[in-house]
Amino acid sequence: MESKCFMKSSSKLFYLLLISLEILRVQCLAPNKTTSKVPAVIVFGDSIVDPGNNNAIETLIKCNFPPYGKDFPQHKPTGRFCNGKIPSDFIASQLGIKELVPAYLGTELTAQDLLTGVSFASGGAGYDPLTSQLVSALTMSDQLNLFKDYKEKLKKIAGEVKANNTISQGLFLVVTGTDDLANTYFTTPFRRAEFDLPSYINFTVDCAVSFYQELYLLGARKMAVVGVPPVGCVPSQRTIEGGIERHCVPLYNQAAVMFNSKLSTELERLNKTLKGAQIVYIDIYTPLLDLIMRPFAYGFEESTKGCCGTGYFEVTLACNSLTTPTCEDVSKYVFWDSYHPTERAYNILITEVFQKYGSLLT
Ligand SMILES: *[C@@H]1O[C@H](CO)[C@@H](O)[C@H](O)[C@H]1NC(C)=O
Ligand SMILES: *[C@@H]1O[C@H](CO)[C@@H](O)[C@H](O)[C@H]1NC(C)=O
Ligand SMILES: *[C@@H]1O[C@H](CO)[C@@H](O)[C@H](O)[C@H]1NC(C)=O
Ligand SMILES: *[C@@H]1O[C@H](CO)[C@@H](O)[C@H](O)[C@H]1NC(C)=O
Repeated sequence: MESKCFMKSSSKLFYLLLISLEILRVQCLAPNKTTSKVPAVIVFGDSIVDPGNNNAIETLIKCNFPPYGKDFPQHKPTGRFCNGKIPSDFIASQLGIKELVPAYLGTELTAQDLLTGVSFASGGAGYDPLTSQLVSALTMSDQLNLFKDYKEKLKKIAGEVKANNTISQGLFLVVTGTDDLANTYFTTPFRRAEFDLPSYINFTVDCAVSFYQELYLLGARKMAVVGVPPVGCVPSQRTIEGGIERHCVPLYNQAAVMFNSKLSTELERLNKTLKGAQIVYIDIYTPLLDLIMRPFAYGFEESTKGCCGTGYFEVTLACNSLTTPTCEDVSKYVFWDSYHPTERAYNILITEVFQKYGSLLT
């Protein structure tokens, strides 16, 4: 493209031909959305980006039954903690890679599935290994071990050069940390006996830093790290700690802000010290809080209750088709169950993420 400024008039025809070829190339190869050089999206984290890994492990944190998946293709309950698609799906789609990022565990994956990326995420996981252990989810180390296994598979199917390329050019998406605060620290007594909140945040962010160092050593370069949401405003926390009027819980939101601040500082440091790394911290706190505080501005009508059941407490096993009907119009709800956003809320959030960080992700 750069040399086209110096085109002679005699090469107009050639130029036209080039343009037509370019249009053809764009139509054939490139996807309907952002064009990107990113060959794969590889995902780690918790229920926000678990497409069904928990189906394949012994844990109670599962949702591979209706009404989960109600708005997924074929209304299939895949194990995604949502009525439809989840953030990893929207990101892969925005990058023009594929429409769905599959779970690494529990399903037959084709060579093409592997080459374009998979998810190792596990509902209930956290940077703090205890967070995963408390609910028998995969720890972040377990997820890294699965990633090592995945790398070997890539080498077998595509050869070492292409496998290396997939890893070094791929986008590593990591979404976790919420369950460390909401479940482990504020709900169970174990860590509070050892740590006050600032030292627990230091501890958890130290775990996060070790994870990113290890991921880098395993070949990852481009990493997108999503911070924690305003966890004090998710429906279940309003019900448990928000008083009779179910307000947002200020302490939980403050904890999220402190955690994000520490995490983003450490990631900036890592981005400088790890040679060739491109680590982006993605703020999800601000945009999700805006959806919750100004739902009408986005065409939502309810942001304090989930769509499943009463919306006050139902999540995973408690949100099932035997005991709980769902709301009439899920598109009016920010939250699907008492903890996880709806597909529509995710779609809006990821569109905003691409507006703000898109150039860093492609
Ligand atoms: C592009 O759109 C076509 C038809 O609308 C669809 O079949 C295809 O899956 C889409 N590709 C991507 C990468 O979104
Ligand atoms: C692939 O990457 C590994 C380290 O990440 C390196 O040791 C190896 O030489 C690379 N292989 C090729 C073929 O580039
Ligand atoms: C947390 O870590 C920072 C340095 O990263 C330190 O200044 C601070 O004292 C630590 N806080 C606690 C409570 O350990
Ligand atoms: C990360 O570091 C690279 C240089 O290695 C720089 O180009 C990039 O802007 C940094 N990214 C962020 C988000 O700070």
